[in-house]
Amino acid sequence: MSQFDAVEVIRTKRDGQALRDGQIDWVVDAYTRGEVADEQMAALAMAILLNGMERREISRWTDAMIASGIRLSFPAEALGGRPTTDKHSTGGVGDKITLPLAPLVAACGAAVPQLSGRGLGHTGGTLDKLESIPGWRATLTQDQMLAQLGDIGAVICAASDDLAPADKKLYALRDVTGTVEAIPLIASSIMSKKIAEGTAALVLDVKVGSGAFMKDIDPARELARTMVALGADHDVRTVAVLTDMTTPLGLTAGNALEVRESVEVLAGGGPPDVVELTVTLAREMLRAAGIEDVDPAQRLADGSAMDVWARMIRAQGGDPDAALPTARETHVVPAPADGVLVGLDAYAVGVAAWRLGAGRARKEDPVQAGAGVEMHAKPGAEVRGGEPLFTLHTDEPDRFGRAADVLATAVTIAPAGSRPDLPDLVLDRIAE
Ligand code: URA
Repeated sequence: MSQFDAVEVIRTKRDGQALRDGQIDWVVDAYTRGEVADEQMAALAMAILLNGMERREISRWTDAMIASGIRLSFPAEALGGRPTTDKHSTGGVGDKITLPLAPLVAACGAAVPQLSGRGLGHTGGTLDKLESIPGWRATLTQDQMLAQLGDIGAVICAASDDLAPADKKLYALRDVTGTVEAIPLIASSIMSKKIAEGTAALVLDVKVGSGAFMKDIDPARELARTMVALGADHDVRTVAVLTDMTTPLGLTAGNALEVRESVEVLAGGGPPDVVELTVTLAREMLRAAGIEDVDPAQRLADGSAMDVWARMIRAQGGDPDAALPTARETHVVPAPADGVLVGLDAYAVGVAAWRLGAGRARKEDPVQAGAGVEMHAKPGAEVRGGEPLFTLHTDEPDRFGRAADVLATAVTIAPAGSRPDLPDLVLDRIAE
């Protein structure tokens, strides 16, 4: 019989005390094995949400989540001397940055072992985007991952089910018990997966604004600080940047549409905000990996990042030269008035893309590769009433109405000549 008891652990946190290491190790393990019931873990998660956790507790909780599954390791010797470095984004609308970023950082001499997920709700998932490329497959064995990392320097693939299985179970429970927002649980969820993935350095892109998980800067900063501390406690060199997500990134939200835009960036073009964030995060990833003497902007301009992209896509069965899928139907939404676009709400654009079929409501739902929203103007631009503001893409035209309804709430136009006060793209940087 165990020396621990779930009710006792719940009471400890309910009464505002710190959990002991043994309690944490036991409760995470026993929950993963099914010995602690969902209702007991739900009560504990709520107590954590209400009473918080100390740094030591969060660190131990993260250890316990890592210990629930396998831990990958990519020693530099097995990678031809390339140091590993990765990025995690807390998710936003039009956030396709991983696609150009991973090959760019590999083109600068690092190895990027990026384990990604599929999208749920109004934000898209990196794997859904890449799966719109004909032939591309998300599943690799560990050996294939290691070989590709050593050879090409970048892998974007699905995390296997045995990486932090405690997190999969706990995240699903938090989702239905109003406990997703607990910062210790968010931080340990994200960091357990990244630490188990085996990267030596990590850059966190913590999104702030309507289209993000964190709507306000103060909790976003606290989340960033908590994750940076967890990285330090686990010998992963970790830096966080807080970036604006009040408006979508780039001019597209939707799977194949975002791949097309990413390829434009790799070809030396693309929207300025996507280029700026890609280069900023590349610099941070390289610095965290100890590579200081390579300029990522130059590797974008000289085509070497594009070469890595093509090799990375081919290595996973995809054809980088194949035409991307397009939706069967398109519909243009005009600007409602003349003036200056001062607001384009990220959340509303994300919901529109989702309603068009680009995202899923449940894990099992399929996504449409060609569906999404193309934006013809971003905040700060002059617009003319009646001219195209959005083009909507879907295979099912009865989806246009509800997507256009939500987009009507996304747009704020001020009189011509107005000078909007737009937020910076990078809001803050947090390191220990
Ligand atoms: N993303 C995660 O992986 N975990 C959380 O808890 C929240 C966002």
